[in-house]
Amino acid sequence: MSLPFSFDEPLVTERLSLRLMNEGDVDAVHDWMSDPEVVRYQLYDVRDRATVAEKVAEYALASRLESNGDYVQPAIVVDGEVVGAIYFTLSSVDDLTAEIGWVLGRAHQGKGYAFEAASAMLSVAFGEMGLHRVYAELDPRNAASVALCLRLGMRREAHFVEHMMFKGEWADTGIYGLLAREWKP
Ligand SMILES: CC(C)(COP(=O)(O)OP(=O)(O)OC[C@H]1O[C@@H](n2cnc3c(N)ncnc32)[C@H](O)[C@@H]1OP(=O)(O)O)[C@@H](O)C(=O)NCCC(=O)NCCS
Repeated sequence: MSLPFSFDEPLVTERLSLRLMNEGDVDAVHDWMSDPEVVRYQLYDVRDRATVAEKVAEYALASRLESNGDYVQPAIVVDGEVVGAIYFTLSSVDDLTAEIGWVLGRAHQGKGYAFEAASAMLSVAFGEMGLHRVYAELDPRNAASVALCLRLGMRREAHFVEHMMFKGEWADTGIYGLLAREWKP
């Protein structure tokens, strides 16, 4: 097992890099966090710039995965532009399990960036971090997110029916999982 893990170096792929956020990213992050379409299935509602600045300051400091609940939220950067982010939370140290999530600004969707970024994160999760399982939780109505899970090789593990009050209505939750031995880089 290779925890704790420190997100010190950017992860670089063919078209993009994943790096920790900094205060210079506030406008780019505000671009998607203030977009009702992009936050439709996120747990939060649209955010104003001041709230985004607070959040980015928190994310910038979160770089170490050691205890349950520790997270990193690196920006997805393409040609120097922040286009989205990957959410990655260490859910259980004992069970070597993490949760992954993703977001792209509307102008940057449909280009395979989330797939490329999530693939890089999963490679590190099952490689350097030595994790056993990574899962994603989503609203099953979020077809783009479901498609991404399936593209990554994740299995549909659960579908909870109307188990949470979400933005004023009862909503379902889908869980998609992937084990280290199932991961095909
Ligand atoms: C979920 C989300 C990140 C998916 O983004 P996405 O761009 O559709 O995902 P991918 O990176 O896998 O890209 C796949 C799309 O890019 C296309 N594509 C274009 N060039 C590509 C390339 N070089 N490689 C791979 N795919 C490419 C694919 O054909 C596919 O398009 P399609 O859906 O029309 O078939 C995005 O919809 C989003 O940010 N939604 C709002 C936030 C959200 O709901 N997050 C999830 C909460 S659980």
